[in-house]
Amino acid sequence: MKIIVTGGAGFIGSNFVHYVYRERPDWHITVLDALTYAGNRANLEGLDPSRVTFIEGNITDAELVDKLVAEHDAVVHYAAESHNDNSLKNPRPFLDTNIIGTYTILEAVRKHGKRLHHISTDEVYGDLELDDPNRFTENTPYNPSSPYSSTKAGSDLLVRAWVRSFGVQATISNCSNNYGPYQHVEKFIPRQVTEILEGRRPKLYGTGENVRDWIHTEDHSSAVLTILEKGAIGETYLIGADGEKDNKSVVELILTEMGKGADEYDHVNDRPGHDMRYAIDSTKLRTELGWMPKFTDFEAGLKSTIDWYTANESWWKPQKAETEAKYAK
Ligand code: NAD
Ligand code: DAU
Repeated sequence: MKIIVTGGAGFIGSNFVHYVYRERPDWHITVLDALTYAGNRANLEGLDPSRVTFIEGNITDAELVDKLVAEHDAVVHYAAESHNDNSLKNPRPFLDTNIIGTYTILEAVRKHGKRLHHISTDEVYGDLELDDPNRFTENTPYNPSSPYSSTKAGSDLLVRAWVRSFGVQATISNCSNNYGPYQHVEKFIPRQVTEILEGRRPKLYGTGENVRDWIHTEDHSSAVLTILEKGAIGETYLIGADGEKDNKSVVELILTEMGKGADEYDHVNDRPGHDMRYAIDSTKLRTELGWMPKFTDFEAGLKSTIDWYTANESWWKPQKAETEAKYAK
């Protein structure tokens, strides 16, 4: 099996590359990544180059994408502009990569008759009230809030249309908030951990009552591999590990774990249009494909993530000052 992993130098994509490298020793992986501010070659260090090829290139480059797709069996499509806060400041790159990039990949897999798995997010469904007994399912109507989530919703709809109109062999997954090693310091958990490591206080948007449904990135990887191998063409699968936590509790856990007082954080301005709550019902994936998450002890996963950032300062230091300067602006 020869697969292309787009965005394989980013957070979740690189964790998937490491996962497949371990779990499928006879597969060859080609990473296609533009190395934007979020991509990092260091995420792929230590992998045998005879089994993993790195191509620096853009998913909107139709000629390059066509050539690569022709030479492979399947594409696992992670590449995206992924951060909500950035999309509120400058939406344009989100349209280029998330919409035009996905269109470019769809045209190539259509032409060459290759398998596609499209990675998406639970944010396409909008948000839930804190007291809503329901969770998102595959039948929840799309209702995205931000430029980021609306472009991801658009990319999902393109995939669905290419399946129905052109018979493209694609599946889609929508996952909840990931955490783990190699996550960019712009995101919530790594930002707070590295703020503490640099001697500053964590920053909570608004009241901090917003809820995210946390999943360890290793569980996301096992779910994607399961769908790639066993998923039914044209189907969407929601990926989640029953990990709902409000932001305030997560900050308090991080502070306590790092030897600080649980109240040593600041409330800062809220994110415009801030989604209140995400919650995933992953019954379909569990019952139809037999997947189960393994890393469901959030406190243990958070502790090992804090340990990873503490031990890998040379990995995150180069991104930190630039990220905080962006936030300050
Ligand atoms: P990330 O920002 O860490 O990584 C994105 C990667 O894509 C980077 O390596 C970047 O260089 C690359 N990239 C961006 N634009 C590109 C382009 N035009 N051409 C080629 N490569 C390009 O993102 P992430 O958090 O790892 O998210 C990966 C995917 O998973 C995204 O599709 C995202 O929507 C989805 N997702 C993320 C989460 C989460 O919690 N982070 C949850 C559910 C789904
Ligand atoms: O739900 C899946 C989505 O999760 C993915 O599609 C996105 O790619 C990914 O970035 C993530 O989106 P969020 O907006 O939920 O993640 P973020 O890490 O930016 O923020 C998580 C929560 O923490 C959110 O409620 C905003 C809040 N927050 C964030 C930052 C950076 C803070 O309170 N303070 C902060 O400094």
